[in-house]
Amino acid sequence: MAELKTRNQEPGNLHNRRILLGVSGSIAAYKAAPLVRLLVQVGAEVQVILTEAAAAFVTPLTLGTLSKKPVLTGFLRDAASGQWHNHVELGLWAEAYVIAPASANTLGQLAQGLCPNLLSAVYLSARCPVFLAPAMDLDMYAHPAVQQNIQRLRSFGNHVFDSPAGELASGLSGPGRMLEPEQIVAELGRFFVG
Ligand SMILES: Cc1cc2nc3c(=O)[nH]c(=O)nc-3n(C[C@H](O)[C@H](O)[C@H](O)COP(=O)(O)O)c2cc1C
Repeated sequence: MAELKTRNQEPGNLHNRRILLGVSGSIAAYKAAPLVRLLVQVGAEVQVILTEAAAAFVTPLTLGTLSKKPVLTGFLRDAASGQWHNHVELGLWAEAYVIAPASANTLGQLAQGLCPNLLSAVYLSARCPVFLAPAMDLDMYAHPAVQQNIQRLRSFGNHVFDSPAGELASGLSGPGRMLEPEQIVAELGRFFVG
């Protein structure tokens, strides 16, 4: 039902758009699967990048199957032959870089300009609009360090979605949930209208 709603509301805005989806290590990483599926359904071309931590929550097999493209998990494509994934090219390829879920750790790296992995290196190279969907537990999200990182990322011109309140994986309740995939797709669709 939600899928149909998204498709009907935003029919063509994301058609043929090149969307890079960065997934970091949050329990909400399982939501990357429906997010990829919805983006593909509205006609977007999706390239997924996983952090090492994210790959423990959601598999490259799942996301690669749904996106119809091999998932990228590190700088190296084939260590033996020296082939690597070009973060500069990926950053230039994308028309939007969506990082969902964005963990506290990843937000901190991006806010500070650190690039220990492919997801963060591509962020520094990307010229396209960047959308971040933070997801973490109540007190992590409320921590001034995380809030400062979010403010800093916004001051750079990134679109950081507010984390809706609700039941969290820990059993606590409050802000910190990842914005739902349907809402992320709707936000992207609205962005590409104008
Ligand atoms: C079961 C479990 C759930 C976690 N959930 C979250 C989460 O929702 N948000 C978050 O910021 N970190 C969470 N973490 C911690 C991150 O996985 C950890 O900080 C990791 O280093 C993030 O790496 P990345 O940002 O490179 O993906 C969780 C860890 C575990 C073991």
